[in-house]
Amino acid sequence: MLVESIQELRKQTKGKGSVGFVPTMGYLHQGHLSLIKAAKKDNDLVVVSVFVNPTQFAPNEDFESYPRDIDRDYKLAVEAGADYVFHPSVDEMYVPGASTYVNVEGPITGQLCGASRPTHFKGVTSVVNTLFNIVKPDRAYFGQKDAQQAIIIKKMVRDLHMDVEVVVCPIIREEDGLAMSSRNVYLNEDERSQAVILNQALTEAEGVVAKGEISVAKVVEGIVAKINTVPLAEIDYVSVLSNFDLSDIEQIEDEALAAVAVRFGKTRLIDNRVLKLK
Ligand code: PAJ
Repeated sequence: MLVESIQELRKQTKGKGSVGFVPTMGYLHQGHLSLIKAAKKDNDLVVVSVFVNPTQFAPNEDFESYPRDIDRDYKLAVEAGADYVFHPSVDEMYVPGASTYVNVEGPITGQLCGASRPTHFKGVTSVVNTLFNIVKPDRAYFGQKDAQQAIIIKKMVRDLHMDVEVVVCPIIREEDGLAMSSRNVYLNEDERSQAVILNQALTEAEGVVAKGEISVAKVVEGIVAKINTVPLAEIDYVSVLSNFDLSDIEQIEDEALAAVAVRFGKTRLIDNRVLKLK
């Protein structure tokens, strides 16, 4: 069922058992659908939200042009197991004069995407908190694709004693290895073919670390060199950090998170890999 009002969603879901929640900005692909399928397995009811959240976009970013197709999203979400697709308007979500935010402070929001998008995560945690208050999920599903987002949401839930279990699901990729993303539709043919370098560079780094390389500087250098073999790639960041709290490390002990953000033309793509010493 497609639901646009908060009141209606609350009425529909009340007392019907455990709720699994998948927040999205729509333009659904197999990555989103894998979260919906995981939610379906664990819960009596599955709620999927489709809301392009204005507060997580900076003024120069792609809020207006972000791809939207609610009819297609509704169909795909229901086929994957959604019972309710919550599609509120901006006015429904943000009451006039709203000025309350949830902001996770510290390096986990300042690093990586937080460095080039300083207001982004405040928008994400605020809207996810609002969505949790509306949907009241027992479990909420996020993708490892946005590793930093998942770590930040887990911290928000822990810090604020929110009564929800955060489940993080693996990255779903295209056949050639490109991580699925709603923004992949922006890529032209050349950009699309060169974008596979992200996955290739991370796979190479995974191999190097598995063989015993523990120097973060060397691993980062290898990833940067590999990405720079394609002419259209413009690196925003390449980082290898603690996989627990995104703090800086110099050597890999046990495991680390390699995270990259790279521009191809106007499109900024992110990807990551957990690197493990064997
Ligand atoms: P969106 O980019 O639509 O992503 C919704 C969820 O799908 C996120 O948890 C994201 O990590 C996951 N996802 C995206 N691509 C994936 C892939 N290839 N494999 C697995 N999971 C993938 O992330 C957001 O929306 C927003 O920030 C949101 C949390 C909805 C708040 O507005």
